[in-house]
Amino acid sequence: PPLSQGAEGLAGRHVVVTSGPTHEPIDPVRFIANRSSGKQGHAIAAAAARAGARVTLISGPVTLEDPPGVDVRRIETAQEMLAAVKSALPADVFVAAAAVADWRVEAAAQKIKKSGAPPSLTLVENPDILATVAAPGQDRPGIVVGFAAETGDTVRRAQEKFLRKGCDLLVANDVSSGVFGADENTVHIVTASGVEDWPRLGKEEVAERLAGRLARMLADRNS
Ligand code: CTP
Ligand code: CA
Repeated sequence: PPLSQGAEGLAGRHVVVTSGPTHEPIDPVRFIANRSSGKQGHAIAAAAARAGARVTLISGPVTLEDPPGVDVRRIETAQEMLAAVKSALPADVFVAAAAVADWRVEAAAQKIKKSGAPPSLTLVENPDILATVAAPGQDRPGIVVGFAAETGDTVRRAQEKFLRKGCDLLVANDVSSGVFGADENTVHIVTASGVEDWPRLGKEEVAERLAGRLARMLADRNS
């Protein structure tokens, strides 16, 4: 697809993107995970690279090809994703498109056998990668973008999440009806200046528009 207007403003910038799910082991053969194909995150990494950015993509387990011209680092768990993001910083832009598992399991070292009563799993909260990167500090990227997957009252919940996470822009989508694995997405863009509703678009097109939008935000800050 063609470059969205102004996306060339990303040229030479370092953009770090998280994408895909994380897998949290239960034991050596089982895991819990979040739904995510990685399509939207990978499309954003690809669009930023086409716009001339240096792109680092931290990806959970997905079946997608690596986007051309992108430095892809593969991880499995949320803790590995956080470590990979930290080692990729500093960056001009951080985009948290991954569906990070909110909890990990106190994993068993040996395969849990089926004999006897079903096991109970003890869950431990994972680090919030987006909130960690968005927190004020020396390494904070100039622009931090979050995503919100909601199943009702999407915009209001997204506005709350925008404030809570400390990001500069939040991409909200209603996941009640078949976003996962689909090629299209209907999103709302939340910033400090309000909410924009984008029409239903291909995930590639959402990525292009977002790249253009981020380039303009960077340009505005430097002017
Ligand atoms: N996120 C993250 N690390 C986590 C959880 C979420 O970086 N441990 C990021 C996601 O990549 C996304 C944003 O935070 O950009 C919002 O994720 P979401 O699951 O919608 O929000 P949560 O804060 O986890 O709240 P909840 O799942 O309860 O709605
Ligand atoms: Ca979550």
